[in-house]
Amino acid sequence: MSVRCFIAELCLALLLRKWDYEPISIETYSSDESLIKLDIKIERINRGVFGVTVKVDWNYDTTDETMVEANVLRSSTGDVSDYKLLPWAIPQQSLYEHMNTYYKDVSMKNFKHCSNIPQFEGKFQPPLPKQTYFGNKCVIDGDGLPEIRKWDYEPISIETYSSDESLIKLDIKIERINRGVFGVTVKVDWNYDTTDETMVEANVLRSSTGDVSDYKLLPWAIPQQSLYEHMNTYYKDVSMKNFKHCSNIPQFEGKFQPPLPKQTYFGNKCVIDGDGLPEIVPAGFYMIIMKCYGPGQPTWNTTSVFKITPKLM
Ligand SMILES: *[C@@H]1O[C@H](CO)[C@@H](O)[C@H](O)[C@H]1NC(C)=O
Repeated sequence: MSVRCFIAELCLALLLRKWDYEPISIETYSSDESLIKLDIKIERINRGVFGVTVKVDWNYDTTDETMVEANVLRSSTGDVSDYKLLPWAIPQQSLYEHMNTYYKDVSMKNFKHCSNIPQFEGKFQPPLPKQTYFGNKCVIDGDGLPEIRKWDYEPISIETYSSDESLIKLDIKIERINRGVFGVTVKVDWNYDTTDETMVEANVLRSSTGDVSDYKLLPWAIPQQSLYEHMNTYYKDVSMKNFKHCSNIPQFEGKFQPPLPKQTYFGNKCVIDGDGLPEIVPAGFYMIIMKCYGPGQPTWNTTSVFKITPKLM
């Protein structure tokens, strides 16, 4: 999987810099409008600039068990049957965890000037106040993200784990090729049969200090999904293309034909060069955790840490 596009595409989605977007529809649902009532409208402000006007009557008590999640799907035609899950998501998490991470870092800042959503320093003090929240023509333009415009990255560590090295053995090394350019050399001995139940997932965490206790989940993830679904979506669109020239990973047209061939896969100095990454990335330490598992199959995972710093000019 490509670190590069993994982060890039989501940031682009947030920043909306290189393309125009147009809201098509927005629908809301509440199982009980006396407890929560949502009213959302989108208005055009300028070409390619839209404002969101929101009114939410929040009239129930949140608890530790209030959960949130978000998923993004894409369709090239707009036809309902055509939408496919993308690897951009807020994984299922408690509302309070969300308030202390993504909400605090992004939503709270972006919507401060145009809404009365909760503002806080330090940790969020539950529960969420029962009141009417409103936003008035909030423009979604990515301003207010904690950002640096030009950045370097540096791999800090990469760890792998396999529950049974006779079934899968991973060997990953990162080598410096040039200033700010690194190559990944990988050898994977794949020696077990994948099934419909082989699952993959990936998460990204960020820490400003690098301290282990400081890492917070970011809303960039590959939600838990079957390996075959992954092969037909993210793998095919991104990884297969990016690593074709430097590796022997499976190449296919149309739909992936299971199972994954049992063989040794290698990548030779596959460059993660930051091309196509957004100009604007928050500084800090980024930890990317990928996992793969299935019933009666080995469990394996990788943990990579990268440091992002402002570029020295
Ligand atoms: C990798 O898998 C092992 C076994 O399930 C687990 O103990 C370890 O915490 C996992 N590592 C990460 C980073 O999730």
